[in-house]
This record gives sequence, structure tokens and C-alpha cells, in this order.
Amino acid sequence: MHVEGGGVRYDPWDEPVMADPYPAYERLRAEAPCYQNPERGFFVLSRHGDVARGLRSNEQMISGHGVALQEQPSGLFVSEDPPSHTKTRRVAARAFTKPAMAKHQAFVADVAERVVADGLAAVGPIDAIGDVANRLAFEGLVHVLGVPDVSPADCFAMSEAVFRSISDPDGKGIDEVNQLGLTVGLQVDGVVEERKRSNVAGPGDVVDAVVARTEPDDDGWRLNRYGRSEYVTALIGPGLETTRHLVGNGIELIARHPEEWARVRNGEVAASAFVEEVLRFEAPVQGFFRTASEPVAVDGAQIPAGSRVLMLYGSANRDEHVFDDAGSFRPARDATEHLAFGLGIHYCLGAGLARLEATALFEALARAVDRIDLAGDGERCGMALMRGWRSLPVQFVAG
Ligand code: HEM
Repeated sequence: MHVEGGGVRYDPWDEPVMADPYPAYERLRAEAPCYQNPERGFFVLSRHGDVARGLRSNEQMISGHGVALQEQPSGLFVSEDPPSHTKTRRVAARAFTKPAMAKHQAFVADVAERVVADGLAAVGPIDAIGDVANRLAFEGLVHVLGVPDVSPADCFAMSEAVFRSISDPDGKGIDEVNQLGLTVGLQVDGVVEERKRSNVAGPGDVVDAVVARTEPDDDGWRLNRYGRSEYVTALIGPGLETTRHLVGNGIELIARHPEEWARVRNGEVAASAFVEEVLRFEAPVQGFFRTASEPVAVDGAQIPAGSRVLMLYGSANRDEHVFDDAGSFRPARDATEHLAFGLGIHYCLGAGLARLEATALFEALARAVDRIDLAGDGERCGMALMRGWRSLPVQFVAG
């Protein structure tokens, strides 16, 4: 038996839900915690405990058929299951550790300072996405990967195409992802081959990690020439569209909550805590799918084997059982239990980098910007599984 949830109807592709999904999430959590969408057949988990358990049960809730509603070809990382997932992740894990991130702190802080200074120097409104979020997300990511000269336009086009395709109910857009992946991959390949040829170790970035990793495993898994550039390219996809939404959402929340921003400015609330609350309150990735590998019982309902199951991170983050007054934006709270970076074996590899970038930006803003005014209607990113802005006109006001 499954629960269709009485009067509850939830479809992430409904226009009103895309505009504001939170009322629907509240009803799902209260009335239909294991909901089945009647038209499309997929299941939805919305409570924090159920989503967290589902993400940890990676043998029951598998990723190898992709994280979109429709099956997608298995790629690297997010749409892999062990054992190949474990090996893929291991190659670059050391480039994303805490000590590795600490080495990039000064570089990222400098980018953040410049972006904020330019925003303040601008005459008239700026775009929080194009002028602020994109620059920070791109410069930080390509530095950590070790490919500073790739084209920002190509990388953003690819990253957006990845999430547009994951968010498409019919699974459209894969050809475009592949095409853009080839374009970016060729640019990355030049850097990787040069590093290999010169035989000089770089600064411990991801290119170093893939160049060092040449020996095949017992079962033949290894990075060959094209595999190496594909690997680096596969980290550009998830790193841009997400981080720009974290930054854009944070800037919008500063504009809407000047009283909370004042507490960051006077040092009462740390910029890092502000970042965690932005991630909780407006998760850039609202949810990804899994596939049930066997029948799974959740809250008295049965999910049959083979079902697609939407893990709603954005709803888990508003669960009143975990967060008091969950519908209020309160940066002073401890928000760290949020699931904006997922959980378990697919926990976001770039979480440390995203936190480093966003904290540096909000620290730089707190030093120089007293107020942020909205300067017109923004445009939402328009992807059902993502929450963020395509553009957001704002004005930085110095203080
Ligand atoms: C605010 C920014 C970011 C958010 C909200 C975010 C969110 C997520 C989420 C929710 C997952 C889990 C996917 C799942 O459960 O299936 C994930 C995985 C991943 N993220 Fe991020 N991400 C961010 C930034 C980044 C950055 C900067 C990188 C760059 C390296 C990155 C690389 C990855 C990778 C490679 C995975 C897959 C890990 C695996 O499957 O083992 N992310 N991210």
C-alpha cells in the first residue's frame, strides 16, 4: 500500500510550486511523508529523518540510474554506485580536504574583496548573479581544479545544461550536456597534458591528482588520457550552478532581512553561520532522485523496487522536528543539520570549497556593505529541482 496523501497534490513541475515550493513541502511532511505522484508515478520523501535515512541507505536507494526523474546514462560521481563510485571519489578527495581548502583561503578572500569593491564602485545597480556570484564561483573553482584559463562562458553553459537536464521531467538535454562537456573537456585536456609533459608537480590541485593517478586497479579501472580531462570537467558541472545560487540567495536574503544582516555586520553572528542558514533556508539543490533497488518501507507505506524516489533536501531543511521556527530565516541558529549538501557516500565533494567561497564573500560584504537594496524584479533560474536566480538586480550601499 502506498499513501497518495488525501488532498495533497505535489508535482515539482507545477508553476506555483516552482515559484514557492514551501507550502507544498509543509503539507507533504504533515500529511503524506511518503507521497506518490499519481501521474508520473515517482515517490517523494520530505521529512528530515526519512531523507537522511534514504541518503544513508545507498544500497537500497541507488544512484546508478541517475538522479533525474528519467533514467540518465551513468556518469562520474553523482550517478555512480560503489564500487566504481568509491574509486572515482578517491582520486581527487585529497584536493578537497580541510587542509587543502585552507591553502586556498587567501586566494579566495582576495577574489571576494575584489568582487565586493567592484560592486561598490559601480554606478547604478549590479546583477548579484552575473557581477558577483558567477565571478566568485568560477574563479574559486578553476583555481582549486588547476584550470584557470578555461572559458567561463563555456563552463557556465555546461554547468547550467547539467542541472537543466537533471531538472527536466522528460530527461531532455543530455545531448547538449555532452556537446558542452566536449568543448570544455578539450580546453581542460591541454592543461592536463602540459602538466604531465612538464613532469613538475603543481600546487596540489585536482589536475595534480589526476596526473599522479596512472596505475590501473585490479579490475582495470583507471584514468586514461581522455578520462583525466573528463574527470576534471565532471567537477566543473556541479560546482558553478550550485554555488551561484547559494551566493544569489544569500544576497537576496540580506536585502529582505536588514535586521539580520546588521547582526552579521556587528559581529554577533559569524559569516559562516549566515552561510549555513542560507543553505538551510533556500537550498540551491531542492532534491535529487534515487532508485529503490528493493521494496522499501517508509512511514507505513511501501515503495516498490524500481521506483524513482525524490529526496527533498529543501523540505528536510524546513522540518520543524529538527529546526525550531523552521520557516523563519534566523542566521543565529545552529543550522548545520541541514541537508543542502546531501548526506552519506554522495555528500557534496565541493562543500568545503562552496563554504570557503561564500564565507569569504559575506565577510567581505560585512566589512564594507551596510545595506543591499533590491533594484528591480529578478528572474528565477526556472529549474524545478533548483532554487536560485538567473539574474537579480541589486545596489550595494556602503557603510
Ligand atoms: C552551494 C554549493 C553547492 C551545493 C548546494 C551542492 C549540493 C550538492 C548535493 C546536494 C550533492 C549530493 C547529490 C546527491 O545526493 O545525489 C552534491 C554532490 C556533489 N557535489 Fe556539490 N554542491 C555545491 C557545490 C559544489 C562544488 C563547488 C563542487 C566542486 C567540486 C561540487 C561537486 C560535487 C560533486 C562532485 C558531487 C558528487 C559527489 C558524489 O557523488 O560522491 N559541489 N552537491
